[in-house]
Amino acid sequence: MKSLIVYVSVEHGNTEKVAKAISEVLGAELKEAKEVDPHALQNYELIGFGSGIFFSKFHARLLQLVTEMPQSSCKAFIFSTSGFGKTDVHEVLRKELEAKGCKIVGDFACKGWDTYKLFKLTGGINKGRPDENDLARAREFAKGLGT
Ligand SMILES: Cc1cc2nc3c(=O)[nH]c(=O)nc-3n(C[C@H](O)[C@H](O)[C@H](O)COP(=O)(O)O)c2cc1C
Repeated sequence: MKSLIVYVSVEHGNTEKVAKAISEVLGAELKEAKEVDPHALQNYELIGFGSGIFFSKFHARLLQLVTEMPQSSCKAFIFSTSGFGKTDVHEVLRKELEAKGCKIVGDFACKGWDTYKLFKLTGGINKGRPDENDLARAREFAKGLGT
């Protein structure tokens, strides 16, 4: 299956680590969102979309790419790293991808080193995350995508 992982990882490279782990399992191409022509997304059967979470949203660059993406019948999955490491913040992107015609086949979240505001004073929270356990979970997630 022709697969692509599109990510944005601007803070500490947290999401990039997860994106790489997943892409290695899938044998997928790995691209930063700014390298991707939205129309080229039509060439892939499976696409993963991921970034850090900022004020409960995916990075604006990733959301913009999805807005510009043409209607598609691809399979898609969503992943993120964040202070909380929860998937509940995926809902808006999930709906946007579904509105584009994509079938969501999974989502993955883990904690990432977070130095937002006051956290910075003490070196941040989740230092060292994603760690080897998180990346092992990401690889298991990728295997479960059944490609
Ligand atoms: C300005 C700012 C806002 C953030 N907002 C949230 C948030 O709403 N929820 C959360 O769980 N983490 C939040 N974080 C933490 C980031 O999502 C986390 O550090 C993420 O792993 C960064 O990913 P990256 O290194 O791939 O860019 C925020 C961080 C920054 C700098």
